[in-house]
Amino acid sequence: PDLNARAGDILLITGVPLLKRYKDYENAIKYYTEALELNPSNAIYYSNRSLAYLRTECYGYALVDATRALELDKNYIKGYYRRATSNMALGKFKAALKDYETVVRVRPNDKDAKMKYQECNKIVKQKAFERAIASDELKRSVVDSLDIENMTIEDDYAGPKLEDGKVTLKFMKDLMAWFKDQKKLHRKCAYQMLVQVKEVLSKLPSLVEITLKEVRGSNESSDLVLTSGSQLFNGDFVDRGSFSLEVILTLFGFKLLYPEHFYLLRGNHETDNMNQMYGFEGEVKAKYTAQMFQLFSEVFQWLPLAQCINNKVLVMHGGLFSEDGVTLEDIRKIDRNRQPPDSGPMCDLLWSDPQPQDGRSVSKRGVSCQFGPDVTERFLEQNKLQYIVRSHEVKAEGYEVTHSGKCITVFSAPNYCDQMGNKGAYIHLRGSDLKPEFHQFTAVPHPNVKPMAYANSLMQLGMM
Ligand SMILES: *[C@@H]1O[C@H](CO)[C@@H](O)[C@H](O)[C@H]1NC(C)=O
Ligand SMILES: *[C@@H]1O[C@H](CO)[C@@H](O)[C@H](O)[C@H]1NC(C)=O
Ligand SMILES: *[C@@H]1O[C@H](CO)[C@@H](O)[C@H](O)[C@H]1NC(C)=O
Repeated sequence: PDLNARAGDILLITGVPLLKRYKDYENAIKYYTEALELNPSNAIYYSNRSLAYLRTECYGYALVDATRALELDKNYIKGYYRRATSNMALGKFKAALKDYETVVRVRPNDKDAKMKYQECNKIVKQKAFERAIASDELKRSVVDSLDIENMTIEDDYAGPKLEDGKVTLKFMKDLMAWFKDQKKLHRKCAYQMLVQVKEVLSKLPSLVEITLKEVRGSNESSDLVLTSGSQLFNGDFVDRGSFSLEVILTLFGFKLLYPEHFYLLRGNHETDNMNQMYGFEGEVKAKYTAQMFQLFSEVFQWLPLAQCINNKVLVMHGGLFSEDGVTLEDIRKIDRNRQPPDSGPMCDLLWSDPQPQDGRSVSKRGVSCQFGPDVTERFLEQNKLQYIVRSHEVKAEGYEVTHSGKCITVFSAPNYCDQMGNKGAYIHLRGSDLKPEFHQFTAVPHPNVKPMAYANSLMQLGMM
């Protein structure tokens, strides 16, 4: 979205967070479901529906279908591939390795299978190694082993530099122009920004609370000076793109420039497991170093988990909780400086999704849960809130209003992954009435760089 905010107490909420067109996969799921009602013992139907679930990021359902296909026909090779892909997407690498092993055993001459087996094996070994060293390295920051002040900026570097070690408006304008030219920020400047933003974020509570005042009347364009307007970006700033670094450094720059008016919340992609599979780790390593990725990981752990506006609107990336009774006080108390656990409130805030029917059900993603309108209603009542805003799911119109207006999804990446054909949207809120006003936009042409250039080869399109 346009970063030119208008004066007035306006809050922009945007959520950034599949392949051919999303609708086609949704239709495929619908028709395979109908076919399975007529013939529930057809392994291919399950396996093909599993693929459609993979493509729409419903990894939990994809895993169930692939498993069912293999129960019906244990010699069905594609079923093993799909179960392995589902497990990879869920971060269950050992389980995935077992399936790749089976494929390699049955088809010793299949080069593709061998490649996947080796790739997956590498990840399993790397994880084991990381676990082994984790205990020694506990709590030691990468910052301690960097000598940033002594890094020299070569004379031939013509890009933007911090001014007296600080991010300024001029720096931000130069930075955005530099990035639009697809040029690289000097590593010293990137490190300076990361160290500073870690400091700023680590001082914030896990639940950020802000008050928007009444609009004072002016609505002139203010050329990036967000005098009284504020902006909130709702997680998933990185992965599934070839320019995640440029996006996240721009966002961090604005956080440093306008710490009281520019807000960032953590998404499920600001985590190590996701970054390894969906590209951000590979991108930082290709453009800078593994050490810099380590520092990004440390910074992500300090991103707040939720934001409350005027005690009435609660914003989070994923959604509500696997159990009733969670209060704002419980969110405030979350010790967030870590990789999210597999369950509990921190996991739910980053991962859950709303569903149309009452109650809760098993998550289509295989992580956290799905919550119905009654769950939303009880949560809002207990915490004296009006509605929640979340992101996390691509929507054809860029946003969706559900649960009788009490649960809003906003998704700001138009033409997601350069192939979904969806619109993007953001929300304007005014302190006077807190009524959400939706603004939609469409994609601009993608630069001539492969989409998702840095994702793990096992997760790249067409390979599952
Ligand atoms: C299953 O999907 C494959 C493509 O992966 C397709 O060729 C085949 O026709 C599909 N089978 C059925 C029964 O839909
Ligand atoms: C920079 O490096 C020099 C020589 O390696 C060292 O003496 C000095 O303490 C370093 N400065 C900082 C700020 O670390
Ligand atoms: C806001 O801008 C519009 C046109 O851009 C103008 O018509 C309107 O009067 C302005 N409102 C205020 C309160 O200044």
